[in-house]
Amino acid sequence: MTNEQQESLFQQKIDNELRIEPKDWMPEQYRKTLVRQISQHAHSEIVGMLPEGNWITRAPSLRRKAVLLAKVQDEAGHGLYLYSAAETLGISRDQMLDQLHDGTAKYSSIFNYPTLTWADMGAIGWLVDGAAIMNQVPLCRCSYGPYSRAMIRVCKEESFHQRQGYEIMLTLANGTAIQKKMAQDALNRFWWPAIMMFGPNDDASPNSIQSMKWKIKRFSNDDLRQKFIDVTVEQANILGLTIPDKDLKWNEERGHYDFGTINWDEFWNVVKGNGPCNKERLAARKNAWDNGAWVRDAATAHSEKRDAKKAAISA
Ligand SMILES: [Fe+2]
Ligand SMILES: [Fe+2]
Repeated sequence: MTNEQQESLFQQKIDNELRIEPKDWMPEQYRKTLVRQISQHAHSEIVGMLPEGNWITRAPSLRRKAVLLAKVQDEAGHGLYLYSAAETLGISRDQMLDQLHDGTAKYSSIFNYPTLTWADMGAIGWLVDGAAIMNQVPLCRCSYGPYSRAMIRVCKEESFHQRQGYEIMLTLANGTAIQKKMAQDALNRFWWPAIMMFGPNDDASPNSIQSMKWKIKRFSNDDLRQKFIDVTVEQANILGLTIPDKDLKWNEERGHYDFGTINWDEFWNVVKGNGPCNKERLAARKNAWDNGAWVRDAATAHSEKRDAKKAAISA
């Protein structure tokens, strides 16, 4: 079969909503796009553990501590499913982690912002996990089988994360004046970075069209962003908190909320490594990797010993 025939067969499969599996033929660019996207997603899960892990010891009650601990643990699990999904495309976990550590691979910029108060745990669960759900639910139907299957479980857990965050916000918003102020302050700091999580505007996102054709992506960045804003404004109203955007207004004609201009300079600045916590996050990940070297060495030595024993018995 010629390359062209293979490509048209591949596209036909996708158009018919069939999944592409690891051993199926795929265009090199499809494979590369997925490796980039899935590894970036995996890195975001494990870097995302850092700003929240920071608050486990300071959670205000045993219940809050147990819930936050479970949530942060879930994120580690998401990282593991996703690294495994990426490995089916012919890249190793070590290679992916090297790319994270040397800065060639990115992770979601939202995790480069600091978590200053307990209310930030609420704002992150509500807004960041909420935005993640908007992005990730369509990925359950991604054309690449292993990624789409991993996302089904991830999304179930994400909705628990979103609720735990919203519940923290609800408690604070109905608490003392100081607590309500703390919740408002967290919303003020996390709103715009959360809106930026959907990525650049459609006209500045050249790879999106191909990704949509391959059904890796189902909705454009701007569509998902609008959907998130429409849903979240209502939730903020229930909390009695104010979204920090003076241009936010219901547009009867469009049937959507209009919103203010996003500061893309800030976005690109954080992507390029100059956000408030980029260096700290990367240093924490590298440290964890170095400190875990003895565990990896021990596991390798153990499996070599076991293989040698097996070989000796069968000899
Ligand atoms: Fe997650
Ligand atoms: Fe989450």
